[in-house]
This record gives sequence, structure tokens and C-alpha cells, in this order.
Amino acid sequence: MTDPQAAIDAETAQERDERVGDYTAGDGEGIPFIGAGPGDPGLLTVTGRELVEDADLVVHAGSLVNSDLLDEFAADAEQVTSIGKDLEELVPLMRDAYEDGRTVVRLHSGDPAVYGAALEQMDALEHEGVPTYIVPGVTAAFAASATLRTQLTLNGVANHVAFTRPQGKTLAPEEDHIGEFLDMGDVTTCIYLGTHAVAETMDRLVEAGHDPDTPVAVVYHASWPDEDIIEGTIGTVGSKVEAAGYRASALVLIGDAARKVGYERSYLYDGWANRGSGDSASGSETEADD
Ligand SMILES: C[S@@+](CC[C@H](N)C(=O)[O-])C[C@H]1O[C@@H](n2cnc3c(N)ncnc32)[C@H](O)[C@@H]1O
Repeated sequence: MTDPQAAIDAETAQERDERVGDYTAGDGEGIPFIGAGPGDPGLLTVTGRELVEDADLVVHAGSLVNSDLLDEFAADAEQVTSIGKDLEELVPLMRDAYEDGRTVVRLHSGDPAVYGAALEQMDALEHEGVPTYIVPGVTAAFAASATLRTQLTLNGVANHVAFTRPQGKTLAPEEDHIGEFLDMGDVTTCIYLGTHAVAETMDRLVEAGHDPDTPVAVVYHASWPDEDIIEGTIGTVGSKVEAAGYRASALVLIGDAARKVGYERSYLYDGWANRGSGDSASGSETEADD
């Protein structure tokens, strides 16, 4: 009898299944939870592609995993969407196939570690004695910054990046920290799962006193053939997104990195490397990448 909740509630690996401790991430045994990347099949990692090509059963995340990727790399596999299935259905589906000797892969959009709900599936499978591991992928924020041709960290502009989501069904208003990230100033704030609520999110920021001229870029379907960029500010972008009709599948990026100007020359290409870091806190020269 499958009880995914027991695995989630367990406080130690041993409470789940004594074999769990035997499995280490990335040892290639068990069911890989693979990041499919943001959409473009070319952005699936080489390891991810090899595993998908080898699979008998591909359980995937539905519309955010590009069907071209499935057609190209998993044409011969059984393909099952996870949309509409709960843990109680998904876990036995993957467990039974694995125990029948089939090669099973779980494909998440982007990277499984970002708003992926991967761990609860992995823990439930491990609880049933099925090893799992993660193969990372390109998360939407990285695809969006590539589409915008900018950096998320930019010398003199943004020293930090926040991956966040707006309040809604899952997040209570007091758990919404978007305004606090903006208050920090030198943060690029990347909002996932907020396409349907761009206008409300921006209105809340204006009401809370944030500068309406703060730059915002909304990248719809980054890396897909129909990708689109809507550029504006906290004051203007909401109505632009509403006019475009996007309700899902966009990444909202707030901060000066979206404007792509005002940054400073990096230390790395300013003779820093030849002078030596002189910065014992940085640990080694190889850490100087901006
Ligand atoms: C359930 S989350 C999954 C995120 C995924 N694990 C990742 O790392 O990108 C889905 C949200 O990711 C964002 N997203 C995913 N793919 C995207 C893309 N190609 N372009 C823009 N945003 C994307 C959207 O905000 C969407 O609502």
C-alpha cells in the first residue's frame, strides 16, 4: 500500500526505508528526476538526453515540457503526463514500472529543484525502496536572462538573485516577500508562477510605495519558438501583460538588470587577475567571475 504522506512526514531517512541511506545522489541507480530545461530541446543536458533516450517510461510535467523534446528523444517510450495525477497515483505508477524492470525517468520542466515538487515524489519512492536521484536542468530564470541578453547578477547593479513567487492559493500574503527583495535594492527578483497575477503584483508594489519606474521584463515561453518579451516598469508592465493575454508560462524579472544599463566594469577584466585578488575572503582567484 502506497503512503506518500508517511515519507513526507518522516523525520529521518531511516524512518522512510532503511535502504535510503545507501543511495547517493547521482550514482546512476534508480529513477532519475531530470530537469528538461525551459523548453528548447537543445537545452536538455547531455546526461538528461541520454537517460530520456534510454527510457521505457517517461513521466513528464505536461505542457511546460516541450512536446518536440519528447518527439525527438522519447518517441519509442511510453509517455505519461503527471498533470491531474496525485502522489498516490504517480508513485505506484513509477514504482511498479521500475520493479517490472522497465527504465523509468521523471521529467520536470526547468530544474526539478525550483518549484518542482520533486522531493515529495522522490521521498515516497525511496520509502518504497526505489532509489532516485536528480539530474539538473536549466531553470526558467536562466533562459529568461538569456532571452533578455542580460545577467541576473551585474556588477554595480545586482549582487543577488531571488527566485520567488507571488501570494495566491499556495502562498499567504505574509509569505510574499517580493517587496522585501525590492527594498534590498541590488537584487534581481525572478518571479515564477505569477503570470496570471502580474498586474495585481505590480499594483501591490506601487501601493506599498515602491518606485513605479523600477524596470520589469516579462519573458513568455523563454527559449520556445514563440518566446516573447514585454518590457516596462512596475507602473506599466501589468497592463501590457494583460493586453498580450498571457496567463501562464512567463518569468517576471524585476530590477535594474532588466534595463541592462548602468553597470560597472568588472574587476576580473580590469587587471584584477594580474594584480592578485588581495581578498582573502574570496578564497581563490577562480571565484572572481564578475
Ligand atoms: C511549476 S514552475 C516550474 C519551474 C521549473 N522547475 C523551472 O526550473 O523553470 C512553472 C513556472 O516556471 C516559469 N517557467 C517555466 N518555463 C518557462 C519558460 N520557458 N519561460 C518563462 N517562464 C517559464 C513560469 O513562471 C511558470 O509559471
